[in-house]
Amino acid sequence: MKTIVTNIKQLVQVEKTPRRWAAGEEMANVETIEDAYLLVENGRVAAFGAMQEFNEETLGNETFQEIDATGRLVLPTFCDPHTHLVNAGSREVEYIDKIKGLSYEQIARRGGGILNSAARLREASEEELLEAAAERLREIAAQGTGAVEIKSGYGLDTASELKMLRVIRRLKEISPLTIKSTFLGAHAVPGEYKGRQAEYVDLVINEMIPLVAAEELADYIDVFCDKGFFTVEETDRILNAGMKHGLRAKIHANELAPSGGVQVGVKYNALSVDHLEHVGEGEIAALLGSETMPTILPGAAFFLGLPRSPAREMIRAGLPVALASDYNPGSSPSGNMRFILSLACINYKMVPEEAINAVTLNAAYAMGAEEELGSIAVGKRASFFITKPVPGVAYLPYAFGSDWIEAVFIDGNAV
Ligand code: NIG
Ligand code: FE
Repeated sequence: MKTIVTNIKQLVQVEKTPRRWAAGEEMANVETIEDAYLLVENGRVAAFGAMQEFNEETLGNETFQEIDATGRLVLPTFCDPHTHLVNAGSREVEYIDKIKGLSYEQIARRGGGILNSAARLREASEEELLEAAAERLREIAAQGTGAVEIKSGYGLDTASELKMLRVIRRLKEISPLTIKSTFLGAHAVPGEYKGRQAEYVDLVINEMIPLVAAEELADYIDVFCDKGFFTVEETDRILNAGMKHGLRAKIHANELAPSGGVQVGVKYNALSVDHLEHVGEGEIAALLGSETMPTILPGAAFFLGLPRSPAREMIRAGLPVALASDYNPGSSPSGNMRFILSLACINYKMVPEEAINAVTLNAAYAMGAEEELGSIAVGKRASFFITKPVPGVAYLPYAFGSDWIEAVFIDGNAV
């Protein structure tokens, strides 16, 4: 089955030769074709180019679907390389506490935060978690996301961590989105291990990681390496154990303090280090020349009122930057990548093209999906969205509250 999208005002983020990521000054370039077509065959991009180059005979006698995109832009779907979208429900009570002045760490210390989600997750059945997460996947797909990474980390005991990862595995089976799963046993120390953090780390290393690996339940391993959570030494041990079981790191680092998380992530050749509110010259130097994608989570910084990650300094230094939603009930209860795109421009002073690279190509790399997604390139998955009639790319982050997406296609199928 072929689909041809014609008269596209701008076909955005096309690649003749696919790249792994865009870094530094390159981030401000997004290759775009004006008055373009896009041909999809068997769920993949078969061809694209200027309308004047389009030859109807290439369609042959087969039946095909034609979509007229006059006045509209077409972009590859967003990749969201950091979420916690399997969880047992919202936490708006803590949101009120935050409004009244409590910090994220204060809420965590009194048993709220991640531990609150853990208590509820342990009670929830796999079916309940699956149903709620599937609904969130439908929500983000309608908002233009075609690929998403999802973490465990609200179980915090072996059975519940495995339960979360099995839910993610089932989501991979039933959802059209590309999904990567990450084991985050070291998200917080559960209540029953209070005061015995070292023993919990041993449990993660000696029991959880081997079981996760044996069942092939995770693509990656994560640790919340930050003040009040896990130390650099603990992170080092956990990542080392993960590596031995074939799990590449993708870690939470430098959200609450300059934790040393970035350096330990780079040491283990992490695919990404995420959050990065507290990043200075040492972190930038560690990242330069590495294969680790610095990933900023503007939704969490926005929601918690955290300092902003120095995106401009990182780009000026020649680094690539990716963006993710961090969709979770505690620090970022939204998976809307359109809003992340706007926050990147408004709060981080990224120009629209830089932000687009950060939510497509670089975000795809940060979840290990850059060979299949992240740009419009022949052979890649035909996962793209068509906007409503809009003036141009800068309008997309500018119109921060508008729903400017008209139709989303994943592997060539409308969702
Ligand atoms: O990425 N920072 C650590 N973990 C999550 C928050 C999880 C929660 O509060 O439930 C995050 O922000
Ligand atoms: Fe997170």
